[in-house]
Amino acid sequence: MHAFKSTVLALGILAALPSFAQVSLTIDAAKPGPVINKNVYGQFAEHLGTGIYEGLWVGTDSKIPNTRGWRKDVVGALKALHVPLVRWPGGCFADEYHWRDGIGPRNKRPVKVNTNWGGVPENNAVGTHEFFDLVEMLGADAYVNGNLGTGTPQEMAEWVEYMTSEGKSSLAELRAKNGHPAPFKVAYFAVGNEAWGCGGNMKPEYYTSLYNHYTTFVKAPPNNRPKLIASGGTGDDTAWTDVLSRDAGRVTDGISFHYYTLPTGKWDKKGAAIGFPESEWFSTMAGTLRMDDFIRKNVAVLDKNDPKKKIGFYVDEWGTWYDVEPGTNPGFLFQRNTLRDAVVAALNFNIFHAHADRVRMTNIAQMVNVLQAMIITDKDKMLLTPTYYAFQMYVPFQDATSLPVTLANNTTYGMNGQGVPGISASAARGKDGKLYVALVNTNPAQATDVTMDVPGQAVASVRGQVLTAEAMDAHNTFDKPQAIKPAPFSASAAGGKMTVKVPAKAVMVFAVEG
Ligand code: AHR
Repeated sequence: MHAFKSTVLALGILAALPSFAQVSLTIDAAKPGPVINKNVYGQFAEHLGTGIYEGLWVGTDSKIPNTRGWRKDVVGALKALHVPLVRWPGGCFADEYHWRDGIGPRNKRPVKVNTNWGGVPENNAVGTHEFFDLVEMLGADAYVNGNLGTGTPQEMAEWVEYMTSEGKSSLAELRAKNGHPAPFKVAYFAVGNEAWGCGGNMKPEYYTSLYNHYTTFVKAPPNNRPKLIASGGTGDDTAWTDVLSRDAGRVTDGISFHYYTLPTGKWDKKGAAIGFPESEWFSTMAGTLRMDDFIRKNVAVLDKNDPKKKIGFYVDEWGTWYDVEPGTNPGFLFQRNTLRDAVVAALNFNIFHAHADRVRMTNIAQMVNVLQAMIITDKDKMLLTPTYYAFQMYVPFQDATSLPVTLANNTTYGMNGQGVPGISASAARGKDGKLYVALVNTNPAQATDVTMDVPGQAVASVRGQVLTAEAMDAHNTFDKPQAIKPAPFSASAAGGKMTVKVPAKAVMVFAVEG
């Protein structure tokens, strides 16, 4: 968590730009860029509120239909989303998590207090084996976040050995005794979380020394070696990226980065999730678009220290953070999810695509019931949020090849003398060979015509989906679970021109047909 200065001021220069009636989008299909790693669409499940317990895990004795404790409805919906990667067990929780508490018979596991999130009992029912069962069911990669804050190098090294070792090792034998003879596949392993805050209030230099110390002892078989992640910075501060890429680059596959979008920019009064004024729609757009500047600044530092681009820039926590839903436990970070969240998600996807060479993994915070969630549950009921649909619409971009886009005559959406770009665009060649385009309109009141040009390629029609609604805070409820969902969309070229009308406050993803 961190406070940021006003997003509106940061974008003030755009206020001078005029608004044009027609926007032109040019896609340079002949100059393919880097592949958009599917793990850019990663998710985050922390031991926080009902994010895991209730939201995903109900236990094997529950009346809610489940597979070995994981609720079937939620897992089914996540499978349909092609979730490529799940980060676990935290967040701040990770730096107080001791992995041995979460193995062996569940009825013998210790009950601890979740000191970060609501002070509630943590019975450790979900531990290493349960987590890997979940990711295996989802067909996702595993991202395990290690404990640097209150753990030791020995504890961290032994956890990695427990998960990955094979053959004659007492920890491999313990894993087998606990039901999993084969090693688990750990795609990513992080050494601590938010070391500048809940992970230990450290300085970059001190953390970097600890990172080098701990990783010296984190060993795994060569065919099952996780990518090692150093816990990096947040917001405007590039010092973490600088120190880590200089002094820990030898053993670092990626440096993490966190940034949350708060409508007001203030942690003590962040803004409401629903029923907000247009000024907070605008400030949310302006605030979330700062992600592009943060990535640029950190990538410039990486390009200086790591010109061969070995190190990835992993945005492993991002999304909206509002005032908690009134009447809920403030430590559970439960908030509603509206059309505004879907637009925020899509704007961030377009930013991540534009930096695909460095941004090779991200995790939205979080998967179920916490912050900008895909799914909200209430006992045996479940609903899909507008953010879920944004992720679903963008599935064709997973492992697609990014293509350069240019927007000419873009509109400006402005308020109080400040402005943000009206249209955001991204394009990629999907794994199926099709050309996919994503368009986002940040303006909540005005539709915009976008004329498309793909030099060297005929564009006869487009076909895909659009997500929009009448209200800025349109959302699904258990009474009206389908109040907002994507609608099919298609359009054909006329007079040799392909023009797409992007509705106000909308996300569109479509394939281009020649
Ligand atoms: O996602 C909620 C919390 O936000 C995470 O635990 C922490 O890393 C960040 O401050």
